[in-house]
Amino acid sequence: MIVIVSVLVVVVVGVSILLSRVAKTLEKVIDTNKESIDVATAEYAARGSKFGQFAKAFVRNKKLVFFAVLMIVALLGVVGWKTGWNVGVHQGYQPVQPIKFSHQIHAGVNQIECQYCHGGAFKSKNASIPSANVCMNCHNTITAGEHYDNDSGISPEIAKLYRAVDWDPETRTYGNDTRPIEWIRIHNLPDFAYFNHSQHVVVAGVECQTCHGPIESMEEVYQYSPLTMKWCIDCHRETSVNTDNEYYDQLIEAHDKLKKGEKMTAAMIGGLECGKCHY
Ligand code: HEC
Ligand code: HEC
Ligand code: HEC
Ligand code: HEC
Ligand code: HEC
Repeated sequence: MIVIVSVLVVVVVGVSILLSRVAKTLEKVIDTNKESIDVATAEYAARGSKFGQFAKAFVRNKKLVFFAVLMIVALLGVVGWKTGWNVGVHQGYQPVQPIKFSHQIHAGVNQIECQYCHGGAFKSKNASIPSANVCMNCHNTITAGEHYDNDSGISPEIAKLYRAVDWDPETRTYGNDTRPIEWIRIHNLPDFAYFNHSQHVVVAGVECQTCHGPIESMEEVYQYSPLTMKWCIDCHRETSVNTDNEYYDQLIEAHDKLKKGEKMTAAMIGGLECGKCHY
């Protein structure tokens, strides 16, 4: 953040210096060309509009044209530079989801653990999105809340859940016409980058919120972190590894064996862990 701000300050200062120079040069240009401008003004006053006069005088003045072009190029440069750095970065992305599922209600107010719905984050590469059956554990009895129009006794948003699993709250039975809820994916790395949740959540002990922000207070989830390579690298540079776990005990053991002249196998450095081969 500090880096971005200081870059912006430098850019702003640079541009204003440039602008004041241009203004000075323009004044000079006008001074030195006063006569010809006066002549031109006099000439065209009789004929054209004020704008026409100005345009003609402007085009005749090479230095002025040069500076105008310079300014446009500088402006395009700044805009291009800023957008260029943001290609493929979706920080703040917040699509409208098919059901108004609120983390604030569930993880915040009702303090349901992340693990209840995203257990994958502790066991595997993917955190995974819970299936509608998980929602039904509670919503087969909780048919409404205080948040949406609930006059009928069934929240219109929970009704969408019932539609998805084909649940009839009157008869309390399931039908066969299920339609999966099409949640829109928010966080998405390109396929060539490998990211593993359990490695970060369990092994490194990083909190979900460090990467995903204050999820428990989000009405609708948005992408909190930039998910750029720089973002990964910066954290890897700063964070010290938590070595207080089985994995590092194994490594230290392997290292000791190696020192004693025994053999160190791939298994000793994590070669049996499912996640190393199964993405
Ligand atoms: C009751 C179930 C439930 C609980 C509890 C829950 N989530 Fe979710 N989470 C969902 C559902 C459903 C979605 C997909 C809809 C959405 O994006 O809002 C989701 C989406 C997300 C996403 C965005 C996924 C994407 O598409 O990129 C993140 C990140 C996330 N949850 C993190 C958390 C964290 C952190 C916690 C704990 C503080 C938590 N969730 C608790 C159900 C839950
Ligand atoms: C562990 C229990 C539990 C699970 C699992 C759960 N919910 Fe809820 N849900 C609640 C509670 C409690 C409320 C708040 C009800 C209230 O405001 O009185 C709620 C409220 C809601 C509301 C707001 C209803 C309204 O009109 O105020 C929606 C929508 C909702 N849940 C959808 C879902 C979806 C979709 C899932 C699955 C991804 C899910 N819930 C999973 C317990 C749960
Ligand atoms: C070190 C950063 C980091 C931490 C910690 C982290 N996540 Fe993620 N999360 C990511 C990234 C990066 C993605 C995108 C992964 C991809 O596209 O392959 C993601 C994606 C997700 C998704 C979308 C579905 C998926 O599996 O890709 C959910 C849901 C999610 N995270 C929930 C959680 C929960 C819950 C926790 C805590 C238990 C957590 N995350 C901890 C970085 C993190
Ligand atoms: C909040 C800090 C943080 C962020 C952000 C983060 N990581 Fe990590 N990452 C760690 C830590 C700490 C470890 C060491 C875990 C351990 O002890 O094995 C790690 C380990 C890894 C490893 C294993 C390295 C090895 O040799 O075993 C990979 C791969 C990895 N991260 C990928 C990523 C990617 C890809 C991203 C960005 C999408 C990312 N990480 C973002 C903190 C982070
Ligand atoms: C050293 C790499 C490696 C490790 C570690 C590993 N696997 Fe595998 N696994 C493979 C390969 C390669 C295949 C595919 C073999 C084939 O196609 O005949 C496979 C196949 C599988 C299959 C069968 C898939 C199918 O379609 O039949 C399952 C299930 C599986 N692994 C689960 C696991 C689990 C669980 C672990 C952790 C306890 C694990 N693997 C650890 C390399 C590995």
